[in-house]
Amino acid sequence: MRTLIRNGMVVTAADEMYADVLIDGEKIVALAATGSETAASWAPGAGKVLDATGLYVIPGGVDGHTHMQMPFGGTFAADTFETGTRAAAWGGTTTIVDFAIQSVGASLREGLDAWHAKAAGVCAIDYGFHMIVSDVNEPVLKEMDVLVGEGVSSFKLFMAYPGVFYSDDGRILRAMQRAAGNGGLIMMHAENGIAIDVLVEQALAAGKTDPRYHGEVRRALLESEATYRAIQLARVAEAPLYVVHVSAAEAVTELARAKDLGLNVFGETCPQYLFLSTDDLARPDFEGAKYVCSTPLRPAEHQAALWRALRTDDLSVVSTDHCPFCFSGQKDLGRGDFSKIPNGLPGVENRMDLLHQAVVDGHISRRRWIELACATPARMFGLYPRKGTLAPGADADVVLYDPNAAYTISAETHHMNVDYSAYEGRRVAGRPRTVLSRGTVVIEDGSYVGEAGHGHFVARSTCQYLR
Ligand code: URP
Ligand code: ZN
Ligand code: ZN
Ligand code: ZN
Repeated sequence: MRTLIRNGMVVTAADEMYADVLIDGEKIVALAATGSETAASWAPGAGKVLDATGLYVIPGGVDGHTHMQMPFGGTFAADTFETGTRAAAWGGTTTIVDFAIQSVGASLREGLDAWHAKAAGVCAIDYGFHMIVSDVNEPVLKEMDVLVGEGVSSFKLFMAYPGVFYSDDGRILRAMQRAAGNGGLIMMHAENGIAIDVLVEQALAAGKTDPRYHGEVRRALLESEATYRAIQLARVAEAPLYVVHVSAAEAVTELARAKDLGLNVFGETCPQYLFLSTDDLARPDFEGAKYVCSTPLRPAEHQAALWRALRTDDLSVVSTDHCPFCFSGQKDLGRGDFSKIPNGLPGVENRMDLLHQAVVDGHISRRRWIELACATPARMFGLYPRKGTLAPGADADVVLYDPNAAYTISAETHHMNVDYSAYEGRRVAGRPRTVLSRGTVVIEDGSYVGEAGHGHFVARSTCQYLR
């Protein structure tokens, strides 16, 4: 079946142009200038015509960092792969890369199989996996090669969470050396967890138990120190490095220095660090728990450095780190002890609109919006040009985006399986009107018309920023 999208303004990371988009089955087959003879010739053969007059036609969002039903602190992230990918579709995101987890003492294979089982047959949109490596040893290093061959070509390591996900510098170096050889990309949670645990213990002993102390003990200096150390280890290993969820201005400085040296070091930030702050963490009546994530929210002064870095490419990707826990029953676990609040914020549904608002506010250009949210994550994680752009041969993951459909974000109307919104009451300027995933309409006229299991696992190539 052929679908024609007419009269819209196509926006990619590279171009803005009035063009019609022809889709055949699951793929984009051609683009042609609106009103051209070529575009006019497509109409008679099209089984479905979508009118995009007044709308942007953009690639579906690629969210390179989500945690559906992730186990954390004795509970599970509240979105399943089914509910979370549906919410992603509502928000104009058509690909997620989630994190499979290796438990200490288990193999990567066991972890990956478990995550495949959770996601298979229930996703609304396409998905891939990174692998969280919690236990670096010889057999695991060999397994990394196998996973790269299966399209799981990126590995997250933690300098934080001692006793859970934490790797020491020696283990990190070994994993980086392996990645340098097999083309894998090391993703780093860069916070000095050993030092943070000391400060947590001291804070709790001093009676500082409220959520806001989560932000105070996870010092910006301990993020920038870990970022610096990760960069040096990557240099020694001659491996590329991708630093996840960067929140501190001081950490951005380390990334900028690495960039200036020409190193293959890349940084990601998330909407929560751009739009929220320690003021939210300090909300009374335990409401601050809604804003507990790691790295933590920072004082609002850090935001200018993040926006600037998004313009200079010292930060190259905005993903959500979507990891929702309900306020009631989950965040509650940390009443009286902030260190027991499950870490993570919901946001997979909000990213495209918040970043479009950033376009309206003048922080970034329209093309940069698409670059940060679609094209660069696709390239970074080996999905381009199948995902992340609109071009002949690409998957027909397409959003007809209404830049004038202003609305107020609220838990009352969102589709994520969580009882609060981190952005409750915030006005944003636009929203997706129609969303296609591999040529199938999944969101249309304010309804979800997709189906669980339409989304497929996507085997990824290695990081395309190095080719
Ligand atoms: O607080 C967060 N970010 N939770 C998810 C796990 C992680 O470290 O990304
Ligand atoms: Zn992390
Ligand atoms: Zn995360
Ligand atoms: Zn199928």
